[in-house]
Amino acid sequence: MKSPELYHSQFPPPVTRTTSAGRRSSFTIASDAFIFFSGAVAALLLVWAFSTYSNPQPHPSPNFNTPLPDPKSSVTDDVDCKYEFVSSNGLNLRHDPPDPNFYDDPTFEYTIDTPVKNWDEKRTEWLKQHPSFEPGSEERVLVISGSQPGPCSNPIGDHLLLRFFKNKVDYCRIHGYDIFYNNVLLHPKMHTFWAKIPAVKAAMLAHPESEWIWWVDSDAAFTDMDFKLPLHRYKNHNFVVHGWPKLVYEKKSWTSLNAGVFLIRNSQWALDFMDVWSGMGPQTPNYEKWGEILRETCKDKSFPESDDQTGLVYLLLKEKEKWGDKIYVEGEYYFEGYWLEIVETLENITGKYNNIERAVRSLRRRHGEKVSESYSALWEPYLKDAGYGKFSWRRPFITHFTGCQPCSGRHNQMYSEQSCWDAMQKVLNYADNQVLRNYGFVHRDLLDSASVSPLPFDHPA
Ligand SMILES: *[C@@H]1O[C@H](CO)[C@@H](O)[C@H](O)[C@H]1NC(C)=O
Repeated sequence: MKSPELYHSQFPPPVTRTTSAGRRSSFTIASDAFIFFSGAVAALLLVWAFSTYSNPQPHPSPNFNTPLPDPKSSVTDDVDCKYEFVSSNGLNLRHDPPDPNFYDDPTFEYTIDTPVKNWDEKRTEWLKQHPSFEPGSEERVLVISGSQPGPCSNPIGDHLLLRFFKNKVDYCRIHGYDIFYNNVLLHPKMHTFWAKIPAVKAAMLAHPESEWIWWVDSDAAFTDMDFKLPLHRYKNHNFVVHGWPKLVYEKKSWTSLNAGVFLIRNSQWALDFMDVWSGMGPQTPNYEKWGEILRETCKDKSFPESDDQTGLVYLLLKEKEKWGDKIYVEGEYYFEGYWLEIVETLENITGKYNNIERAVRSLRRRHGEKVSESYSALWEPYLKDAGYGKFSWRRPFITHFTGCQPCSGRHNQMYSEQSCWDAMQKVLNYADNQVLRNYGFVHRDLLDSASVSPLPFDHPA
């Protein structure tokens, strides 16, 4: 495996590549990551499964006329034990019938080099074989993130990555999403920002039960633990990315969108799209040529290497009929947002939320973390005037530390190390406060990660 330095030599630190909007996500990955991942499997954390399909199977009726469950439908024939294997959300984790499916085909491969065909049919077949996964499958989301295989060169980099990962685990636990964290290159040549594509493909094939795969960069944090993706909005789309259609189609800017967070439908469309997208990557003989084409297309792209983000802009511009029409460029809320724009708004937003809670007792009621979503719903009427995204006082959904490079420490020269570090602490503690609340504690000072105080009853009345 190549050393991080070797990767880095291929990618000069992105010091000058910030735009006014400051969105240069790929480079987040680029330098942290010049190393980003490498390929094997890191951690598969099955956090709770989707709470919405929580229809626990009925207990067996004492009536002996009730047909017994088909013994084939469980690894075990032991009916007495069967119900232990159905997890609390109704998913049968012990049921994998012997009937062949795509996993048994020796020519089926997970690597990015080998195309997969008829995936939609294969997924459907798999779901039929595993009926406990069918209810709610259209809304099921798998979150995926990752980082480089070796230690961070920034002395506090690994600590920061741990906190960013904890933040993702918190969000996933609260909303019943599974999460996969990968820290090895699944294709040895697809380094830096290209590393996520083979990981997303492998995750799709490993999770036929998930409709959506949601890539979230390692340096992005959920800062509204209540907010959920408005999936209904994307029902006619297969790919969602944060950006501004005007900047894509008129300015043709490589920072008109941010490829550091995206949602992709687990589908044949997605596999075909990733084949085309990754065709611009460093594992192909056309890598250099694509670098030139992308710079030709997006004049503001200042570095020569072909990168995934500009590649995405290219496909929107040049292959709109083929791909662009299924890509939703989301600009309405912080599907991801620039930290510098967000961090200074947090204090006032906290003030707004506290005022609402002081006035509404039901919002202050203590509750078990598991039922948090019911309180999120209760909040909505009070947030209807808050707006979304920039200039709103709703909590920003995802804060992305583009340019801070927590792992490598090679932050953009536009910011001081201190400003990145302070902002990361504030943002991570801001998010953590939303979690700790249900555990009875709070960070009083967002810059003090190490201490909390107990929350009094009926806080913040
Ligand atoms: C926070 O609110 C105060 C008082 O309304 C206002 O003066 C200030 O500009 C706000 N700060 C930000 C960053 O929005």
